[in-house]
Amino acid sequence: MSLLDIHVLGSPILRQETERVDSITPELRRLVDDMFDTMHAAKGVGLAAPQVGRRERLAVVEVDDVKLVVINPEIILSEGTVKGEEGCLSIPEIYADVQRFAQVTVRAQDIDGVWYEVSGNELLGRCLQHEIDHLHGRLFTDRLSLLKRRKAMKEWEDEKDHYPKLLRVLPVGDLPPE
Ligand code: NI
Repeated sequence: MSLLDIHVLGSPILRQETERVDSITPELRRLVDDMFDTMHAAKGVGLAAPQVGRRERLAVVEVDDVKLVVINPEIILSEGTVKGEEGCLSIPEIYADVQRFAQVTVRAQDIDGVWYEVSGNELLGRCLQHEIDHLHGRLFTDRLSLLKRRKAMKEWEDEKDHYPKLLRVLPVGDLPPE
């Protein structure tokens, strides 16, 4: 296993549209494994390819006992709205309430390329929406009111000094036990 460096807010790749995944290669499977390891080491519940400097339209999600690889995901159903606190591995230490759909159904391909549907509310629903946003160059701070976004960006001005190359390098000591 290996840990990948996480791009933080300001890194251009976080703002780029991803590219549809057309074939599942051994290299792609390794990327997914490394993304799970990286997400675990960073104590996150979701991680999208652009956050590790990649252009593939894929993300990994792990909420409670639900572990998902979402490739080429799309929200096909949504219901209601709800506000809840969010953070992002690419914007460390910044948290804010974000309005999202209360429930979503997502259609995606798994690591074998098989299409499936997953429905989620609460943390799973929020996480799916957050990761799909990443795949289209959107960050949770984009969804804040002007005032709250300004506050978050002000906090980030101080925080970002910890990431001089706009990369978050995880300490190897954070490796989870095998
Ligand atoms: Ni994020």
